[in-house]
Amino acid sequence: MRVLVTGGAGYIGAHTSRLLAARGDYVLVVDDLVTGSADRIPGIPVVTLNIANGSAEQLESLMREHRIDAVIHFAAQKQVGESVAKPAWYYEQNVGSVAQLLLAMERASVHKLVFSSSAAVYGEASGIITEEASANPINPYGATKLVAEQLISACARSWPLRAASLRYFNVGGAGVPELGDTQALNLIPICFEQIAAHKSPLIFGDDYDTADGTCVRDYVHVSDVADAHLAVLDVLPSEPGNEVLNIGTGIGTSVRDMVDAILEVTASELSAEVRERRAGDPAAVVGAVDRMRELTGWSARYSVADIVESAWASRQYFEARAASS
Ligand SMILES: NC(=O)c1ccc[n+]([C@@H]2O[C@H](COP(=O)([O-])OP(=O)(O)OC[C@H]3O[C@@H](n4cnc5c(N)ncnc54)[C@H](O)[C@@H]3O)[C@@H](O)[C@H]2O)c1
Repeated sequence: MRVLVTGGAGYIGAHTSRLLAARGDYVLVVDDLVTGSADRIPGIPVVTLNIANGSAEQLESLMREHRIDAVIHFAAQKQVGESVAKPAWYYEQNVGSVAQLLLAMERASVHKLVFSSSAAVYGEASGIITEEASANPINPYGATKLVAEQLISACARSWPLRAASLRYFNVGGAGVPELGDTQALNLIPICFEQIAAHKSPLIFGDDYDTADGTCVRDYVHVSDVADAHLAVLDVLPSEPGNEVLNIGTGIGTSVRDMVDAILEVTASELSAEVRERRAGDPAAVVGAVDRMRELTGWSARYSVADIVESAWASRQYFEARAASS
């Protein structure tokens, strides 16, 4: 297959682009290289372009010139806090890029799309969440993902677009140390930072209705997430539509268990410190992944220990690189 990957120089995009290239697919990456880096994908052609505004014509030419069969769209802004501070810019970037891409795909007759959505579309839903759960995002980031999904569905009703929107749960780890996420603002890197500063990792609330009282989340290894894209690309239904699929493990891990795993991997003698609950944190958010398994046969292979160990190895790799430069 000949695949155009937007955001292919980023964290999940680089893992996926490398997997596609390794199995013999032709890969063309389009990325503005603001957070991404071409070093992550040696040997894969990269076109440097911000696709959020006025890019449809150039994207159409690239699709024609490179005889593209399918698009995987990762390029987006992904920081929830920043989206609250700059909502219009988040819509411009995250929805604008999808609109430009769809205009180009329709004109170039490229009919297959896999889109990076997010479990953020579920908002404060709690428990084991199926794709049927109502989507009520509680921040502009999640809202941009939902609007983009709706735009894709509308196009699939208007021209023969065969799409899938993948709602990732908590992505972590690294397939190889140099592909780790250097931008992440979630539990694992925040705990690493605390430990590096000789401060206790923080747990917000231990009085939730869960087994150990702390929040429960679904952590999925980035290599599994990358693999899921290949699996979906291979089985996109022949009918037009937008298949919404959860990408997680279906297994919940408590914040307490995660922090303990992090303390163990980092050989830290610190212990966790419990603080008050934060507003808006649902007790448990775990993805039901039956639909993805039934459609593609895919399921996650890596454990929480694999995620933490590989994230730690990646952090050490970047620290060593910074120290030697
Ligand atoms: N990492 C996660 O935990 C997570 C969870 C749910 C959903 N997602 C979604 O997955 C996708 C990939 O996330 P990631 O973690 O790899 O992020 P990332 O920031 O590492 O990668 C995004 C890439 O897209 C590029 N980019 C951003 N905006 C662009 C634009 N307008 N034009 C061209 N290139 C642009 C960046 O330079 C970067 O290389 C995003 O859509 C994100 O919202 C990520």
